[in-house]
Amino acid sequence: MGQRIPEETVEHIRRSVDIVDIIQQYVSLKKQGRNYFGLCPFHGEKTPSFSVSPEKQIYHCFGCGAGGNVFSFLMDIEGITFIEAVKRLAPRANVDLSHVVDEHPTAERKETTTMIAAHELLKKFYHHLLMHTNEGEEALNYLLQRGFTRELIEQFEIGYALPSWNATVTFLANKGFSLPLMEQAGLIVKKSGEDSYFDRFRHRIMFPIHNHQGETVAFSGRALGNEEPKYMNSPETPIFNKRHILYHFHEARLPMRQKQQVVLFEGFADVIAAVQAGISHAVATMGTALSEEQARMLRRNASSVIVCYDGDRAGIDAALRASETLVEAGCYVKVAMMPDGLDPDEYVRRYGADRFRHHVLDASLSLTAFKLEYLKRGRHLQNESERLRYIEEAVKEISRLSNAIEADYYLRQLANEFSISMDALREQMMIYGKKQVEQKQERRETVAVPVRAKLLPAFQKAERMLIAHMLRDKAIAFAAQEAIEGAFNVEEHRAIAAYLYAFYEEGHEPDVSSLLERIHDPQLKRIVTELSMMPINEDISSAELRDYIQCVLNYPKEQLLKQKEAQLRDAERQKDYERAKRIASEMIALRKSLHFGRRGING
Ligand code: UTP
Ligand code: MN
Repeated sequence: MGQRIPEETVEHIRRSVDIVDIIQQYVSLKKQGRNYFGLCPFHGEKTPSFSVSPEKQIYHCFGCGAGGNVFSFLMDIEGITFIEAVKRLAPRANVDLSHVVDEHPTAERKETTTMIAAHELLKKFYHHLLMHTNEGEEALNYLLQRGFTRELIEQFEIGYALPSWNATVTFLANKGFSLPLMEQAGLIVKKSGEDSYFDRFRHRIMFPIHNHQGETVAFSGRALGNEEPKYMNSPETPIFNKRHILYHFHEARLPMRQKQQVVLFEGFADVIAAVQAGISHAVATMGTALSEEQARMLRRNASSVIVCYDGDRAGIDAALRASETLVEAGCYVKVAMMPDGLDPDEYVRRYGADRFRHHVLDASLSLTAFKLEYLKRGRHLQNESERLRYIEEAVKEISRLSNAIEADYYLRQLANEFSISMDALREQMMIYGKKQVEQKQERRETVAVPVRAKLLPAFQKAERMLIAHMLRDKAIAFAAQEAIEGAFNVEEHRAIAAYLYAFYEEGHEPDVSSLLERIHDPQLKRIVTELSMMPINEDISSAELRDYIQCVLNYPKEQLLKQKEAQLRDAERQKDYERAKRIASEMIALRKSLHFGRRGING
């Protein structure tokens, strides 16, 4: 029972939380004047156009138009329903809503909730098998031998899947899960042509993978020996998208924000070793190349990324690719050089945490310095022609830098290292530099985002200004209600005005965040947040107010006048003087009815 949450409770919860605190869990925000700014989590961008107002308790993105209050933020970013968003914030207001069940979750949402529940239970089951059963002993010994401590195994909730074809199937069936749904969740596999299922993960060490809310959504199972594949991962499912998920992101989010830095690894084992070495701001990809989405997610939480991949050829290539993606997303990238043939996990185990921190992470190079080092690999620099080739490529690399001071710094290094004059290097760079600039310009043209037209017709501007004031001032809203009522010319403005009149009539004070609670149309929400974040002069004069109102009221009449004018010309052309006369007198009446402002109106 009691599936609806009373309005007062919703209001109480909304007032008890600070939208800045909540959004800050997802986006790094910087205070600028009265508002906070950050990179919009709802679209890709490099310069912040996402703003949060602590006074109004709303957010708005000037880039993509997203906007709303704390509940709509959670609904959009987590893909949850309103009830779920309210429930999630309830504990912060010391309200217990655990008894409330969302009556209308979409069918899809119901299924994903079930899938996650199955993962959570299985995670515990696998972990129990590893830690407390004879069957799990071999796997546990393997982990301990590799240097995983028991605490670490607990912390990462590592488990073990039995060497059985039906242990997981039976477990899930006994818990009442639908097997076809469990197949969709990637936990079991359907036998071809039959109606029966078998376990996907058998005799493997199970690493649970969490989404960014900390829910278990997938597994990666490592073979104990040399069986192929070494790691078997859950397939893509409705709850697991490899492009969007990073291993350990949920846990790393806070330290990463505090340090404004994140260390990116290739493997789960590397992350676990890093955490053991005290590096909690560590994440890894899912055995796939770093995606743009993942890069943007990192950028929203930290400004700099240390890429720490394997030291072999494949690792370096992958590190360079990931770095490009990160730079594109606006990250400052450093690359940690691993000695050839060692991965970060092996390094930590062999040389210890201190050395890893100081000799690898602290010694990481800027991307350019790393590339310059990398270009040297396999070259015999004593050899004159190889040396020249190296210098040429190095200059080419340096010319790609957009920062002139930085470019000069590396050129000077190169000049010192090979005893060449700076002039010669600069001259060489000019050649590449020019090409670079041309390419960049071409790119910019194709990438340019159309800026939303700010050149609106006068009546639209007037309506926007008026509503912006009405949102902040009850008296202005009542004045507009008196004069205009529902006669706004833009349909959305009409709807917003109606919401606003009702809101004030019920006795509420101006409060956009609370108003947004009643508006369900996303387009209207956007407009409301945009207008309430629009900078306006709050001491509006009554003359100015009258101008806006007149502009709104006159617009339809002006349109009608234009029509009549055309009709008049038409009648005159046809020499229908009767009709012309009638139209002319209608026009006079219309002109008379126009509201004249301070500046008069041209008609
Ligand atoms: P690695 O082969 O470098 O494994 O793959 P690792 O992390 O060093 O693991 P250990 O130390 O041998 O146990 C790096 C990452 O690539 C993915 C996994 O995400 C792994 O962490 N991978 C690797 C797979 O998805 N499947 C595989 O078969 C191998
Ligand atoms: Mn390894």
